[in-house]
Amino acid sequence: MAPVAIAPATAADLDAIAALELLGNRHPWPRSVFEGELARAHAHLDVGRAADSHVVAFCNWWCVAGEVQIHAITAHPALRRAGIGTQLLAHMLDAGGAAGARTATLEVRRTNAPAIALYTRAGFRSVHVRARYYADNDEDALIMMRDLA
Ligand SMILES: CC(C)(COP(=O)(O)OP(=O)(O)OC[C@H]1O[C@@H](n2cnc3c(N)ncnc32)[C@H](O)[C@@H]1OP(=O)(O)O)[C@@H](O)C(=O)NCCC(=O)NCCS
Repeated sequence: MAPVAIAPATAADLDAIAALELLGNRHPWPRSVFEGELARAHAHLDVGRAADSHVVAFCNWWCVAGEVQIHAITAHPALRRAGIGTQLLAHMLDAGGAAGARTATLEVRRTNAPAIALYTRAGFRSVHVRARYYADNDEDALIMMRDLA
């Protein structure tokens, strides 16, 4: 698949983001979370558009205190294993690094094998476990981190 075009989301993208979140995530966040991120000064909510301009992916990240904090990354289920996740991840790390961040961190469910594989391949390592962190199923959270060269 051709690379997606990544750009900051606007309010007009919120329905598409919420729909993608419902479709693509086993534990979806409500639309209000993304609406809040649009209004938060240090938050980034970016969409990936296919050639026909449809939103097929998004990512949500913060750049604070010299750190890129990755909060969400989702690709349309029908378009997975085509490099979109890798592209969005590189976008967050590059943009955060350009803004002065020196490290990147994220939190991921221990059973989320696709995401852990994506992050590991991009150089992230698990540095901490938050035992039974997720209240909905008592699942552990892995904290993963990498330096930004
Ligand atoms: C995680 C996610 C964003 C990956 O997106 P993607 O576009 O499929 O990722 P890519 O195509 O760039 O994959 C890059 C590499 O990650 C690894 N990977 C991705 N999905 C994988 C899977 N299902 N099984 C094993 N490895 C996988 C592979 O190493 C892959 O490279 P390869 O295809 O050459 O083997 C996607 O699965 C998704 O949207 N998941 C639901 C939302 C989610 O859980 N987000 C993470 C929250 S912490």
